[in-house]
Amino acid sequence: MAFKILPLALVLLRMLAFQSSSRILQEASIQERHEQWMIQYGRVYKDPQEGEKRFNIFKQNVEYIESFNTDGNKPYKLGINQFADLTNEEFTTSRNRFKGYMFSSITRTPSFKYENVTDVPSSVDWREQGAVTPIKNQGECGCCWAFSAVAAIEGIIKLSTGELISLSEQELLDCDTDVDHGCEGGSMNDAFKFIIQNNGINSEANYPYKGIDGTCNANEDNHVATINGYEDVPANSEQALQNAVANHPVSVAIETSGSDFQFYQSGIFTGSCGTKLDHGVTVVGYGVSDDTEYWLVKNSWGIEWGEEGYIRIQRNVDAEEGLCGIAMRASYPTA
Ligand SMILES: *[C@@H]1O[C@H](CO)[C@@H](O)[C@H](O)[C@H]1NC(C)=O
Repeated sequence: MAFKILPLALVLLRMLAFQSSSRILQEASIQERHEQWMIQYGRVYKDPQEGEKRFNIFKQNVEYIESFNTDGNKPYKLGINQFADLTNEEFTTSRNRFKGYMFSSITRTPSFKYENVTDVPSSVDWREQGAVTPIKNQGECGCCWAFSAVAAIEGIIKLSTGELISLSEQELLDCDTDVDHGCEGGSMNDAFKFIIQNNGINSEANYPYKGIDGTCNANEDNHVATINGYEDVPANSEQALQNAVANHPVSVAIETSGSDFQFYQSGIFTGSCGTKLDHGVTVVGYGVSDDTEYWLVKNSWGIEWGEEGYIRIQRNVDAEEGLCGIAMRASYPTA
């Protein structure tokens, strides 16, 4: 018997040795990938301690992303993007500063000009009509609200004047400071209100984005666009939201906490996410793909996140708030 057990023991030993060496190899390859990733995103850590901490977060994130993609039971994929060395908490606290949720008690005149619209197209993509500027990047400044409002204004200006002009988020950060708080957060409706009172807004070219709060340096002579009002889409109706988006881009607030949102790469996002609205984005279309209806959403995290900076979020879900609360606080400027 002994000579039969021996080969078996050898095989087992070899398997064990192989397993641990492959684990070491795996570790080394993640280290290599982290280094390549650092080069790709120009990341430098202040000391080896920080490097070690970031490597461990990176490793955890990579493992999560890869197991998510291998399990493959969701219609979307995750990717190792520029946020791969941040914990989910770090990620959400630095960027997502939609404040409307907290100050949402003011009720506004319930005028919704698309309430009786019945015949809307089955799909819309405002990029195809040239009503959407290229994806921007807010960086580590929680001014999603400014990017969301500006993208909606860029759309309505293009559709009413025929001209697509990239407009200034920085002017909102620096000058719209009574209610909104620059990188510390704000709301799209307050941005619309400010631009109406301000008699317009500068272009991105005139007043470029810096990603930090600064001193107001706006000159009314440089205003290139203005709006004359804004309206809320009736809350908790994806149908009402569709009626509005069929006419122009619409600012919405969503909840983006959770690693799946942080690392979203492609496909139709089906959650998980809740309805604690923390991020302002702009719906620039909608459609259907593989029998799943979606909202086409322009984000402001650069082109390396999501589908070249966009996300498709599942549309017409059971919850009246919409997925990630997309139908809860939608509004648009009028021109
Ligand atoms: C929608 O239809 C109702 C009923 O006919 C009407 O009272 C309301 O003014 C219409 N709304 C708009 C925005 O046209």
